[in-house]
Amino acid sequence: MAFGHWIDERASAAVLEQALDRGINLVDTADVYGTGMDNGEIAQLGESENILGNLLQGRRHDILLATKLHNRMGAGINDQGQSRYHIYRALENSLKRLRTDYIDLYQVHRFDESTPLEETLETLTDLVKAGKIRYIGCSNYAAWQLAKAHGVSALHGLRRFETVQPEYSLITRDIERELIPYTQSEQVGVIVYSPLGRGILSGKYRPGEAPPSDSRLAAGEQRLQLLLNQRHALGMVEGIRPLAAARGWSLPQFALNWVLSRPGITSAILGASKPEHITETLAYAGERLTEVELQEIDRLALELQQ
Ligand SMILES: NC(=O)c1ccc[n+]([C@@H]2O[C@H](COP(=O)([O-])OP(=O)(O)OC[C@H]3O[C@@H](n4cnc5c(N)ncnc54)[C@H](OP(=O)(O)O)[C@@H]3O)[C@@H](O)[C@H]2O)c1
Repeated sequence: MAFGHWIDERASAAVLEQALDRGINLVDTADVYGTGMDNGEIAQLGESENILGNLLQGRRHDILLATKLHNRMGAGINDQGQSRYHIYRALENSLKRLRTDYIDLYQVHRFDESTPLEETLETLTDLVKAGKIRYIGCSNYAAWQLAKAHGVSALHGLRRFETVQPEYSLITRDIERELIPYTQSEQVGVIVYSPLGRGILSGKYRPGEAPPSDSRLAAGEQRLQLLLNQRHALGMVEGIRPLAAARGWSLPQFALNWVLSRPGITSAILGASKPEHITETLAYAGERLTEVELQEIDRLALELQQ
């Protein structure tokens, strides 16, 4: 999401290079990612896919490429959503921008209330059979929405959403109640986004202080500001400081490891605007927190809710 949005192609190349060197093999993007997300300029959507397309030339097979569709990509009434018409169009355009002829994981960006799931899933199934998509997934789905979609797939012999991409971090834990138990029961991959709370859990934002000039908050990311406004967000940052220090880890290292240590999490999509973010955050990614540390965090979360 940073590529072509907060950082240019050169800086994106350095981040991708570092990620591939560190053995990362899943790259997530979306048709809509680009500066157009902030200024509403349709011509400036799709920059992330364009940049990735350039950077992946000659090494497409080194990664699993995940992208998404749903959001508005043009002024027309059908330039959004999950109708048969828009899915075909969105995929063709993503393939062009990404300069590839297949997507490993094609995800619907959110639930579409105005298109029957039968139509969406039938179209996605056709595209899997045509070899343009390997697997299908969804993002920002509630458990009931995923269960409904799975029911439709089973009823009509269609491909099912194999993954779900929800937000999950030390400060956003709603999925633990319904979604995680459901995915564990149905063997669905859970690929979480914003594991560092869009950067909040790195400790770079402090009450009463201006954000660092090279940060996303300074660039005006609204969803980051909303997350930061939640009372518990900065409290959690302070709460994990001693736990991270006890391990000799930095805050981003601790925050990512917490996500990966939680039950039911298949993978986490880390964001980065500098190659050093990858190097630092992944330093202990192979380790897991202990039961005692996890309980300490739960206690802290409860305390912050009061
Ligand atoms: N499906 C959806 O609706 C959805 C929504 C959001 C995101 N996503 C996906 O998830 C990906 C990750 O999201 P995200 O970027 O919000 O994830 P994140 O990992 O929570 O936040 C990444 C940000 O944290 C900061 N950071 C990372 N490592 C750091 C370090 N070691 N030290 C200091 N700061 C560090 C950087 O902020 P600065 O750049 O400000 O320095 C970086 O941009 C996106 O690229 C996108 O593919 C999906």
